[in-house]
Amino acid sequence: MQFVEANGAKIPALGLGTWELRGRTCARLVEQALKLGYRHIDTAQVYENEREVGEGLRASGVRRDDVFVTTKIWTTHFAPNDLERSTKESLARLRLSEVDLLLLHWPNPQVPLAETLGALAHVKKLGMTRHIGVSNFTVALIDQAVAACPEPLSCDQVEYHPYLDQTKVKDACARHGMAVVAYSPIAKGRIKTDQTLAGIGQAHGKTPAQVCLRWLVQQNVAAIPRTSKIERLSENIEIFDFVLSEQEMGEISAMGSTRGRLTDYGFAPKWD
Ligand SMILES: NC(=O)c1ccc[n+]([C@@H]2O[C@H](COP(=O)([O-])OP(=O)(O)OC[C@H]3O[C@@H](n4cnc5c(N)ncnc54)[C@H](OP(=O)(O)O)[C@@H]3O)[C@@H](O)[C@H]2O)c1
Repeated sequence: MQFVEANGAKIPALGLGTWELRGRTCARLVEQALKLGYRHIDTAQVYENEREVGEGLRASGVRRDDVFVTTKIWTTHFAPNDLERSTKESLARLRLSEVDLLLLHWPNPQVPLAETLGALAHVKKLGMTRHIGVSNFTVALIDQAVAACPEPLSCDQVEYHPYLDQTKVKDACARHGMAVVAYSPIAKGRIKTDQTLAGIGQAHGKTPAQVCLRWLVQQNVAAIPRTSKIERLSENIEIFDFVLSEQEMGEISAMGSTRGRLTDYGFAPKWD
């Protein structure tokens, strides 16, 4: 496994996304992923599966310290007391004493950012998380957050795949020593029929998903693809045994547009 290092955090470059995985399916997928060599699991309060993620983790037999667990605080818990209480509740559901990375899931302009970041830094000081970060923050918000947060921020988790140009966010994160963690990294499965990725994959004996994920990790970005199918778990992690040439990397990057977001989440900030 390759790692992305950011402000003290060592984030495994490939993780399992768990949005929409529920109940037994979720626990089984997490268990199998860890047995196959995944060392990074991404969950969130709003996914309503923290309990099952914890179950999968314990069933896998992999040592707790060898797994990087991320969870995210939902925006209605951003007032300082709520943030601490809801973090405790997440830990209780996961049955963990601490997570590795705790993120603010989306910006919430209703609560002053400095207050929320103060509370986030406080739960880190209390030992509830090893690292803290943000998600869905624009360049302007990243700059504000870094200036206001008493503790270093380790990442911005954002939508990133070949159809979305995230150069500005990547540059902002690099300036602040933060990692980019790519969500929807295989464009919600749309890469499956992509001719460019398929063509490049043919030359390496790899699938479009593998080429896409390789393109991300080769930029020192961490990626958290989700699958509900056990057989795809291995496909999505077998990306560390080949290298894309500079020309191939450029060809894939050239497909991206700043208007390439796949989902309108309704409550998103005004993207830069
Ligand atoms: N921070 C945020 O606001 C935020 C927002 C969205 C997502 N996320 C995180 O990022 C994770 C991943 O994003 P995502 O779930 O939106 O999308 P994604 O990982 O890009 O795509 C998931 C879709 O791709 C399919 N798929 C998986 N592996 C495949 C393969 N090898 N070939 C073809 N299709 C494949 C899956 O179908 P099958 O199940 O049938 O395999 C599923 O429909 C989430 O689960 C969540 O943890 C975070």
